Amino acid sequence: MQLQDTVTYINEKTNNFTPEIALILGSGLGDFADDFSDFVIPYGDIPGFEASTVKGHKGQLVFATICGKKVVMMQGRYHYYEGHPIQRVVYPVKVFKKLGVKNLIVTNAAGGISRDFQASDLMLITDHINFMHVNPLIGPNDDDLGPRFPDMTDVYKKDLQELAMAAAKKLNINLKKGVYMALTGPNYETPSETKMVKLLGADAVGMSTVPEAMVANYCGIKVLGISCISNAAAGITGETLSHQEVIEAANAAKSKFKSLLLEIIKGM
Ligand code: HPA
Repeated sequence: MQLQDTVTYINEKTNNFTPEIALILGSGLGDFADDFSDFVIPYGDIPGFEASTVKGHKGQLVFATICGKKVVMMQGRYHYYEGHPIQRVVYPVKVFKKLGVKNLIVTNAAGGISRDFQASDLMLITDHINFMHVNPLIGPNDDDLGPRFPDMTDVYKKDLQELAMAAAKKLNINLKKGVYMALTGPNYETPSETKMVKLLGADAVGMSTVPEAMVANYCGIKVLGISCISNAAAGITGETLSHQEVIEAANAAKSKFKSLLLEIIKGM
């Protein structure tokens, strides 16, 4: 019922824009949406949404036609570490499904585990590990959205991965690949936790993305994930970490991130 209220409100505000692509812009990456503004709705105005609190996140939906494709962008997302219930974190994805979205591009800033990764590298997410100890699919199932026991073999769709790799090649961007693991945050890892993350098979670690990707996959939305490696995870270099460093690395990656996203959207 509430989902329908949200969808009705958005459709009224956007003259039934009907986006086909959704883009979730992570820490320091939100500027991408600044160049586009057919319709802008602050989260605080949307029934079922709440104003976002993280520095570097604006907290609004931006609707625009980009490279001929109708796109809805989240300038800032809800994080579990902010104290939001996990259902709020994934609520926008359910709304996107109802708005008609077919493809979701989800982005984040992440700590690099692999020694191959350097600050400002971009990593294509090939799979994820949910280590948040919470699952957004728990609860009564809405059969209109997806199945009770969804398959997660292929969350990050192969054809979209190929599209992203081809786009990166065309632009001469060295797009790395790897597995993303989500912890709750808000603290960065201890060096021992970094070792654990590595042992468990992840190449990058962060505090987001997995809940949204799980729900998108559950609803039948195809997912493409890109991490901006903002730092070596704690303990790898011995340096301490700060949010400022994360924002600066995202800033440094901004122009290649933007051109890559545009090329991917063009090909979708
Ligand atoms: N760990 C977890 N989340 C992050 C990191 C990190 O090192 N960098 C950016 N987000």
